[in-house]
Amino acid sequence: MKQAPIGVFDSGYGGLTILKELANRLPQYDYIYLGDNARAPYGTRSFDTVYHYTLDCVKWFFEQGCHLVILACNTASAKALRTIQQNDLPKITPDKRVLGVIRPTTETIGRFSETKSVGILATSGTVASQSYPIEISKFFPDVKVYQEACPLLVPLIENNEADNPGADYFVKKYTGDLLKKGSDIDVVLLGCTHYPLIKKLIRDSLPSGIKIISQGEIVAESLADYLDRHPEIEKKCSKTGTCQFFTTDSTVDFDNHGTQFFGQPVLSRHVDI
Ligand code: DGL
Repeated sequence: MKQAPIGVFDSGYGGLTILKELANRLPQYDYIYLGDNARAPYGTRSFDTVYHYTLDCVKWFFEQGCHLVILACNTASAKALRTIQQNDLPKITPDKRVLGVIRPTTETIGRFSETKSVGILATSGTVASQSYPIEISKFFPDVKVYQEACPLLVPLIENNEADNPGADYFVKKYTGDLLKKGSDIDVVLLGCTHYPLIKKLIRDSLPSGIKIISQGEIVAESLADYLDRHPEIEKKCSKTGTCQFFTTDSTVDFDNHGTQFFGQPVLSRHVDI
């Protein structure tokens, strides 16, 4: 058995907000990040398309030797993870593991709400999957969940328009529509790994008493716990504290945008999937 980095996947740059927290919380491990920028966004695509794209990328991680892959993308976690875990892994490579970001988030999100009313901002795909309401009801049956699909936010962020005039119009529209659905919401989850990049815009568009939760720290804590509980996987993860970055599109764009998401310089390599 050869040790290998932990794979971290997103349709584009969003998963870098998760990787940043993983590398902070668990700096001893090696990580390999893949952004499928050439085919992003995933959030508006069909279940079948997201599943096939995600499976292609998961197989690529396995070809790199990874034993553990994190889908640091809510859309892929919502639309592809279960099928990959239940149908594909047993056939392709039963000893490897693929985890997502929805389960760890739903295990904890109810604790943040006093009114027992949580709002979710996410892509259309994540909202349509109903993964958040279904999973949260398992852990927090008394918590009401309201969702708002925000189809324009990922394209605005991926195209570097989030800081330009106009982006705030859509953020206000989406948060306003969410609060119309659930007027007692006191916690808003950023249910897309891209949204931490516009946290300030979202903050400014919500009443100050509402807490805004992003997933990075939650997912990092949950991975630490997973590795503690699964020494058979943990011992297969290499530990020299490095991060490598790959993109299916332009490395120049990836390095420019990626640095904002990761908070440190990013130097990527191109890969065709
Ligand atoms: N970052 C992804 C998520 O967490 C969505 C991005 C996309 O639409 O491709 O859902």
